[in-house]
Amino acid sequence: MKVFRKSGDKVELLALSWDASLRLGDYLVAEEDGRRILLQVIDVEYADVPGLMEDILRDLSGSAFEEVERLDPMDVLSVIRSIRDSRVVVAKVRKVNNAEPDVLWLPSRYTSKVRRVEVAELLREVVPVPKVPVKLGEGVVVDVMNVEGSVTLIVGRKESGKSHLSKVLASGLARAGCNVVVLDVNGEYVSLGRRRNGERSEVSELMKVLTPGLNYQVQLASLSDEVLADVMTYALGLPQTSMRELLKLFRDLRRRSVLNFANLLRAVQSVPMNESVREALANRLLTLESTGLFTDDHHEAEGDQLETLFPPDRGVLVVFDISKLSALQRRVFVEYLLSRLKELLLNDEIDPVVLFAEEAHLYLRETYWEDVITRMRHIGISTVLITNQPDSIPALIYRQADNVFMFNMRNGSDIDHLARNLEIDTETLRSMLPNLPQGTVLAWGKVVGRLPVVFKVIDPYLMTLGRTRTKLGRMVQHG
Ligand SMILES: Nc1ncnc2c1ncn2[C@@H]1O[C@H](COP(=O)(O)OP(=O)(O)O)[C@@H](O)[C@H]1O
Ligand SMILES: [Mg+2]
Repeated sequence: MKVFRKSGDKVELLALSWDASLRLGDYLVAEEDGRRILLQVIDVEYADVPGLMEDILRDLSGSAFEEVERLDPMDVLSVIRSIRDSRVVVAKVRKVNNAEPDVLWLPSRYTSKVRRVEVAELLREVVPVPKVPVKLGEGVVVDVMNVEGSVTLIVGRKESGKSHLSKVLASGLARAGCNVVVLDVNGEYVSLGRRRNGERSEVSELMKVLTPGLNYQVQLASLSDEVLADVMTYALGLPQTSMRELLKLFRDLRRRSVLNFANLLRAVQSVPMNESVREALANRLLTLESTGLFTDDHHEAEGDQLETLFPPDRGVLVVFDISKLSALQRRVFVEYLLSRLKELLLNDEIDPVVLFAEEAHLYLRETYWEDVITRMRHIGISTVLITNQPDSIPALIYRQADNVFMFNMRNGSDIDHLARNLEIDTETLRSMLPNLPQGTVLAWGKVVGRLPVVFKVIDPYLMTLGRTRTKLGRMVQHG
């Protein structure tokens, strides 16, 4: 391969024969006298060789070809043919002499050498040796120190491999010692403790699967004023004035150690207050009780103590199975969980947490998005957001994201949405994203030294349940 020409940040290279192992996203380096230019393949085209059309037409007509062949003892024709059949590899300049590509230098077209750079070699050069390594792909070992304390996004269309990567990442983080919390909307992380062959997986010891309302209930009397206020205000839309009335009653009953739903309702019915406030309070309390997430009982509510889920000396993978909760229950639970986690972190009662949230727009209130990237990560909640609707994540979050993992995406407007908000050009995304096979990712951000890197995500044989449950699927599995 030889460097042919350059325009803007795009370089074209000529290749005589096609190297079938070359893939979209591969890195090439053109070197000359110790200087180098780092290129990433984004496309391949036919070279526009003069006389080509005539040649192909002659080939089509058949007869002329044989005639020429007989007169070709030196086999000149095959050389001509391979020249005419040459390819142009289109690549983007990613670095020049290991610096940003604004340096003005071009390698010689004749004397520079072009070679492939494997992802492992590339990462060794652009990212420091990982302090807490987790393997994501062949030759791709990332430092999860770059995930904790960050905002990470995983996007792509359905079935492209997002949840698979998310599971690999969550398991890796827990094994490395992180507090991992998963909001499992599809009930597909619950089986991460087993391998496909039924054996225990490497995270089985670290896993806790909790179903809110079932084996995870919160004692009403254990709620702090702040957590109660967050749940009532944000998940149930209780107005501020009513909230103040509720807090008065709540504190009073708690002080007398008789706080439960029945007493709270009785107080709401009997204490003098504005009638519309009374009505608002009564129906929000009934709704709260009906979610089944909170309980009066002091014995049953063992899952209540959230802090005990996070031991200080090892990592955990806490999976909250919210797949069977209604939309209302989800909103209430997530509001409670985040509010309580914040409280625990602010009081230094637990170590930082990494929160995995799939399709978060379904249950995360809008103002949380800003919180996620501003307050939450400073408090110690880092988030990994996973979605097949890239436009459900606000632009603000993309611009602040530290890591973005992009899977196959065909929708042009989704791709443009990413290009507008990330530091990767549209051309690269448009050529790569629609062509990524299932399980292959285009990663960008801190974990890969801010270079777009394509790799196949490893398959650690963790048993994972698919998104959709069908009767036929079950019969095939068991039959
Ligand atoms: N890197 C991979 N190696 C092996 N199988 C994979 C890989 N990525 C995805 N899969 C499989 O492809 C299917 C869809 O992947 P999944 O992660 O559930 O997609 P998504 O979450 O994007 O809808 C699953 O059956 C999953 O096991
Ligand atoms: Mg998924």
